[in-house]
Amino acid sequence: MIGGTGPAGQAVAVQFAAIGIDVVIGSRALERAEETVGELARRWDSRSLALSGGTNETTADADLVVVATPWDAALPTVAPLAAQLDGKIVVSMLNAITRLGKEMVPLLPPSGSMAAALARALPGARIVGAFHHLPAGPWSDLDHPLDADVMVCSDDRSAAREVVELIGRLPGLRGIDAGGLSGALAIEALTPTLLEINRRYKTHASLRLTGIDS
Ligand SMILES: NC(=O)c1ccc[n+]([C@@H]2O[C@H](COP(=O)([O-])OP(=O)(O)OC[C@H]3O[C@@H](n4cnc5c(N)ncnc54)[C@H](OP(=O)(O)O)[C@@H]3O)[C@@H](O)[C@H]2O)c1
Repeated sequence: MIGGTGPAGQAVAVQFAAIGIDVVIGSRALERAEETVGELARRWDSRSLALSGGTNETTADADLVVVATPWDAALPTVAPLAAQLDGKIVVSMLNAITRLGKEMVPLLPPSGSMAAALARALPGARIVGAFHHLPAGPWSDLDHPLDADVMVCSDDRSAAREVVELIGRLPGLRGIDAGGLSGALAIEALTPTLLEINRRYKTHASLRLTGIDS
């Protein structure tokens, strides 16, 4: 997890670790990563999660990398790691959003989406968009799995299939292959609408698609 000390990174980390995957929580500061690992280990001590802390640079050595920094910090964070990330699946859960008055609204990155921006910054990596809509707070609770579909998009078809399969192993979730990376524009831009629904209904809404047999 690059930027793994935030709520989104921690949620992905504990969910992956709970299904037996070794997860490295990355940070700009090793100390912060280790602190986060300590807190998660105390919270979930009965589960023996395989979590460790690292810098974002050492985290990039993993087989699969998830980018979970704030959207506007992602490119300066990952660009220096381009050589390390060559050939690897890099999952973008980044949403370019901002507050306008009381409302959360989408921003349009120059490349069309944050996933497309990562693809430009990391030309050798296998970029996949996923996890954009999962509310990190409730999703980090291993005792209460979310009930949600996760739209996955990528121009690398085998990387999309791998991530869909991986998501299918996480309790309560179903990965849906939503097509190529151009779909990231709509997927990312939907997030502020979900946040507004949450604000109005005082909830943490998740998405389910009907009519798909799998
Ligand atoms: N929160 C959610 O519910 C949720 C759900 C789905 C997707 N997302 C997406 O996931 C991403 C992360 O969300 P979040 O809420 O976890 O974000 P966050 O807490 O604001 O940031 C995550 C981590 O990124 C690092 N970071 C902060 N500023 C940075 C900078 N200028 N340069 C490099 N690293 C920096 C910090 O780690 P260190 O200080 O330890 O380096 C921080 O803990 C966002 O793009 C968001 O759109 C969030």
